[in-house]
Amino acid sequence: MPGVFQLSVENLVKEVKEVESLGIPAILLFGIPAKKDPLGKDAYSDRGIIQTAVRAIKDAVPGILVITDVCFCEYTDHGHCGILTKDGDVDNDATLAILAQSAATHARAGADVVAPSDMMDGRVAAIREALDKEGFAGVPIMSYAAKYASGFYGPFRDAAESTPKSGDRRSYQMDPPNAREALREVALDVQEGADIVMVKPALAYLDIICRVREAFDLPVAAYNVSGEYSIVKAAAKLGWVDGDRLTMEILTAIKRAGADLILTYSAKEAARILAR
Ligand code: PBG
Ligand code: ZN
Repeated sequence: MPGVFQLSVENLVKEVKEVESLGIPAILLFGIPAKKDPLGKDAYSDRGIIQTAVRAIKDAVPGILVITDVCFCEYTDHGHCGILTKDGDVDNDATLAILAQSAATHARAGADVVAPSDMMDGRVAAIREALDKEGFAGVPIMSYAAKYASGFYGPFRDAAESTPKSGDRRSYQMDPPNAREALREVALDVQEGADIVMVKPALAYLDIICRVREAFDLPVAAYNVSGEYSIVKAAAKLGWVDGDRLTMEILTAIKRAGADLILTYSAKEAARILAR
């Protein structure tokens, strides 16, 4: 994925210092463990890669808001977002307990916000209950509420080593032609206690961002995903488009559609462009 790298904890801290100096208020962390296994154990270990990284960032750069991805696809050897049944299907209900445990380890390490991206049914309620029980009622959940099964995730899966070994994510992610289903999914997450609701991808789903913004009172986040970012990079490299101009036009469009927060790989570039 162009301009996006896997970082050691040491280099991550340097990166976060730079990010903060550019005026970027928050970061979203994805972890890649040294070893993957069927249960994705590193994801819910207090000594896991994310938990270690959060502690290091909170030590060195206490002012930046740290959001952690809560999911299993980077941690499981099969690459699915949850654990599997004997038949190889994703086991929704068995996954809920370890998702909740994972979120709790993130909060213990000092995460400011947890962001479940797995799309299991019932996970917002399960995570909320676990956080509250451990004394983290003040840690908000940013839920990937309307997450479509999208071809735009390709570069991320390469970078995060999270392509499923078999099958795909269509059983737990949404079908691109459906708009009203997004509103139902968001309503469920809100009912379960989500504090911020996310639409993903962003650029190809501006209509969904707009509808969610109009229908709900919570902050709406939009994830400008890896494929949306990478196609601009590729076209700019070929000399077909002005990359900076497209980047700002895309971010402006996502904002105009109604996003209160934008998650984007273009954050550093955008901060530099805006400071010019
Ligand atoms: C997995 C996850 C994905 C992304 C964020 N979390 C990929 C997927 O669902 O396969 C995609 C991010 C991107 O493409 O930028 N839970
Ligand atoms: Zn996942």
